[in-house]
Amino acid sequence: MKKNKKLLIAGNWKMNGLRKNSLMISNLMKYIKNKKFKNTDILICPPFTIANIFSTLSKKSNLMIGAQNCSDKVSGAFTGDISPEMLKDIDLEMVILGHSERREYHNETSEIVKLKAINALKNKLNVIICVGESLSQKKSGKTLRVIGDQLKKSLPDKISSNNLIVAYEPIWAIGSGLIPNNEDIYKVHEFITKKLVEKYGAKGKRIKILYGGSVNKKNAGEILSIDYVNGALVGGASLKYKDFKSILDFCN
Ligand code: 13P
Repeated sequence: MKKNKKLLIAGNWKMNGLRKNSLMISNLMKYIKNKKFKNTDILICPPFTIANIFSTLSKKSNLMIGAQNCSDKVSGAFTGDISPEMLKDIDLEMVILGHSERREYHNETSEIVKLKAINALKNKLNVIICVGESLSQKKSGKTLRVIGDQLKKSLPDKISSNNLIVAYEPIWAIGSGLIPNNEDIYKVHEFITKKLVEKYGAKGKRIKILYGGSVNKKNAGEILSIDYVNGALVGGASLKYKDFKSILDFCN
């Protein structure tokens, strides 16, 4: 698949994965090596407990390992939190921020997401910021307004050209098997591009925008071919080697 930007296929393992799943990482690394992906970056974001094992395992490979969250604080008395410096310390390259599950279950506001993003970027971690509307917001025609507001409040003010990625994840599409139609995905991605260019100028044009929500081996090819879609953030289908590999098979 030839696109104007290098694709990023990212697996978000959420609260899944044990040390024994290292086998999948080894298989994935072998597959990536054999296929020699030129136009696709590949990322797995496992839970913190196995991130160090995975990052050690994949050190000399083209597989990137990332995290699913980080603190907006530098260090200190914040029980249970993990700082960007700690993620960097185990050689992680990216962090997902503002996932709807964090916004919903941990009351993360866009303002907090922005502080986390600034903190992560300071520590040279690349950041994937998630945005997306709920079903009721979609039904009442508020999708673009909601996303515009999330972007306005979540995006850090200063970026370099390639350290920020945005993921469009409609909340109602996550884990549901439902996906927006191609036209709707196109419209939202085009809108996000417009907002990024308004905020960052030429740099904004180079920011990748991923689609996430029920991406699987059946629909990935079609979704990835939509204009302004530069990759996918994959949940459930990233947990099984065969399913994730089938998605990567659409890329090169
Ligand atoms: P599913 O692919 O399981 O729908 O999850 C998407 C997601 O939330 C990725 O961050």
